[in-house]
Amino acid sequence: MKIKKMQDLDLKNKRVLVRVDYNVPTKDGRVTDDTRIQASLPTLRHLLAAGARVILMSHLGRPKGQVTPKYSLSPVAKHLGQVLGNPVEFASDCLGPAAASAAQNLPPGGILVLENLRFHPEEEKNDENFAKSLASLGEVFVQDAFGAVHRAHASTSAVTRFLPSGAGFLLQKELQFLEQIREKPAKPYVALVGGAKVSDKIEVLEKLLAKVDTLAIGGAMAYTFLSAMGVPVGKSLVEKDKTDLAKSLLDKAQKKNVTILLPRDHMVVKAIEDEASAKYTDDQAIPEGLIGVDVGPKTVQRLLAPIGSAKTIFWNGPMGIFEVARYSKGTTDVAKLAAEAAGRGTVVVIGGGDSVAAVQAAGLADKITHISTGGGASLEFLEGKDLPGVAALA
Ligand code: 3PG
Repeated sequence: MKIKKMQDLDLKNKRVLVRVDYNVPTKDGRVTDDTRIQASLPTLRHLLAAGARVILMSHLGRPKGQVTPKYSLSPVAKHLGQVLGNPVEFASDCLGPAAASAAQNLPPGGILVLENLRFHPEEEKNDENFAKSLASLGEVFVQDAFGAVHRAHASTSAVTRFLPSGAGFLLQKELQFLEQIREKPAKPYVALVGGAKVSDKIEVLEKLLAKVDTLAIGGAMAYTFLSAMGVPVGKSLVEKDKTDLAKSLLDKAQKKNVTILLPRDHMVVKAIEDEASAKYTDDQAIPEGLIGVDVGPKTVQRLLAPIGSAKTIFWNGPMGIFEVARYSKGTTDVAKLAAEAAGRGTVVVIGGGDSVAAVQAAGLADKITHISTGGGASLEFLEGKDLPGVAALA
């Protein structure tokens, strides 16, 4: 899909309304991971260089249309000011007199952050009047919130009806990488998919089967596949109502000549909290009463060859309960293999909050070809769905 870009807009000295995805983790009023803020900087710098007055709008969390102090964007505005080395203004509402006067008084090169859009129920309803009020704050609109373009909301969809609109650099870059791996991935193509549930990933798995040479499955969803094959999985998490689906995906893979790699061995425990009981199984079967929490060393070993020869790698979802340090080795090992592959020139794209957090925790984020800032959005794009926030820029 051909979309309008920020570079096609007249930005000089204009009040530019920018939708960013500053839905970032915060704790005690501080931003704890500013990846999405950093990712928006090229667009902000371009706008500032053009002498624009920049008005930033975003959501944070899911406050369900209610003013909820813990979801205020105020700490985010403060953090952005620190990152830019210049103070950033903050309006305590995203519309009304506070927003209007702050926007009007913004000097060229000034930046204003508006309070959380989702404090108003109209945002998620894609309300036309609400969008019109937002649009009245600016003269042009730049969409750079890749993480939110799968939502048809006022700030991603309806707002484009009222202002000349175009995609910012982050959105352009995300689409470029994701389109490349969706439409013409260099082969061999290996996808690594993990996470807790098959049900969250059905559509993307179906689509990936049409493109990949190897699909490696990890995380708790692997237990549903193993269970579908009759392999004992002890007390591990299994979606019993999805075993038939898992079986049909395995059949499809065989027909399409896609190699499916399921874990060869596992780290198992007596109870998730009982870290001291952790040990590796010898093979695929998990003994009765035990719970799988990570993939084992034989599984990682088996990934070496396909990852070593891959020209494209897509990774979504951790290999185990990686947020518990004791159960994170499989995911960290995969992050290392992915980073090494990227170092050899393989296109490595990582999408999805948890796998991104894993490469960051391993200190390998800057080695990866492209880390998507959108979990849900990147999956929906790869599923072939139209993203409303992108379609609105066509
Ligand atoms: C995300 O974190 O994936 C995006 O910011 C979208 O948030 P949402 O799922 O609450 O719409």
